[in-house]
Amino acid sequence: MSFAKEHKVCIAPMMQYTDMHDRYLLRLISKKVYLYTEMVTTGAILFGKCFHQLEYNPQEHPVAVQLGGSDIKDLVECAKISEDYGYDEINLNVGCPSDRVQKGRFGACLMLEPNHVADCLSSMQDNVSIPVSIKCRLGVDDHVDYEFLYNFVNIIQESGINNFVIHARNGILKGLSPRQNRHIPPLKYDYVYNLKKDFPNLNIIINGGIKSIDETKQHLEHVDGVMIGRAAYENPFLIKDIDSEIYGLEYIKKSKKIILNQYLDYVEEKITEGHEISRMMKHLFGLSRGDKFAKTFRLKILEIIRLGEIKSQRKDLEDLLFY
Ligand SMILES: Cc1cc2nc3c(=O)[nH]c(=O)nc-3n(C[C@H](O)[C@H](O)[C@H](O)COP(=O)(O)O)c2cc1C
Repeated sequence: MSFAKEHKVCIAPMMQYTDMHDRYLLRLISKKVYLYTEMVTTGAILFGKCFHQLEYNPQEHPVAVQLGGSDIKDLVECAKISEDYGYDEINLNVGCPSDRVQKGRFGACLMLEPNHVADCLSSMQDNVSIPVSIKCRLGVDDHVDYEFLYNFVNIIQESGINNFVIHARNGILKGLSPRQNRHIPPLKYDYVYNLKKDFPNLNIIINGGIKSIDETKQHLEHVDGVMIGRAAYENPFLIKDIDSEIYGLEYIKKSKKIILNQYLDYVEEKITEGHEISRMMKHLFGLSRGDKFAKTFRLKILEIIRLGEIKSQRKDLEDLLFY
């Protein structure tokens, strides 16, 4: 399948949220959404030897790893390691505005160095056979015009990189926290649509503030793919109809109770491998979203975390879900 067809709906990389457990849960709900890991820095892999950050479940495919860094040699090394791990794609983070990331000269501040970003991406692509992509903003600070984005993308695409995820708002490097940077700078979807018109051969995925399948369908009239972050985390069942409605697969009815039980089987198995129950169970909070007993469901999860075991509470937890 082509890059564009596979990436019609993607789940955004989110530190502390889209870890391997959350991605497993999402994969139980949709066979097709394209998953992205949290950002893994080159420093963590090469110097921290935090290889566990690259761990994933084989069921997650298709799954991309997102790297954070700006040293070409390190990025190439990490791209090769990621390919060996079996990832389907490597994505470079050029959108994170945090101070810590800026100090390391990576993330959104790299939008001010398009030639260097182009060198990083093309060097990675020269050394791996899986696709390399970039996730960036519309611009940074007072670079708010479409021309800035156009020039940035133009330089990157000249180096042979075709795959862009664009978070459709500017990044403010000084004065706003990463959290504020996700809602204060205005969304400008038209900039991303224009990019697709100006560069029809590029794969353009739009991101930012997208909350429903209807909105997804509207964006897909203008661009190749849609990336959903917070809305899918807060309500994982949001993605249940994506396989049928967006990818044209036969509709398979899977109730929340079925998903819950499949995920609890997974958690019980992972506990025996030493994974922390709290890290895995917290991803279930959103499953009861909109249900009558949502609050009690969340409290029950907290109780399970406190007890450190699922078995005695499993039936009670399931009964709190509506269907
Ligand atoms: C808690 C949190 C962590 C995030 N971590 C990352 C990250 O590691 N890499 C990245 O490119 N973007 C990260 N983002 C940004 C999201 O990928 C996405 O661009 C942003 O949330 C806008 O999409 P949304 O409105 O659909 O959530 C993070 C967002 C949140 C809320």
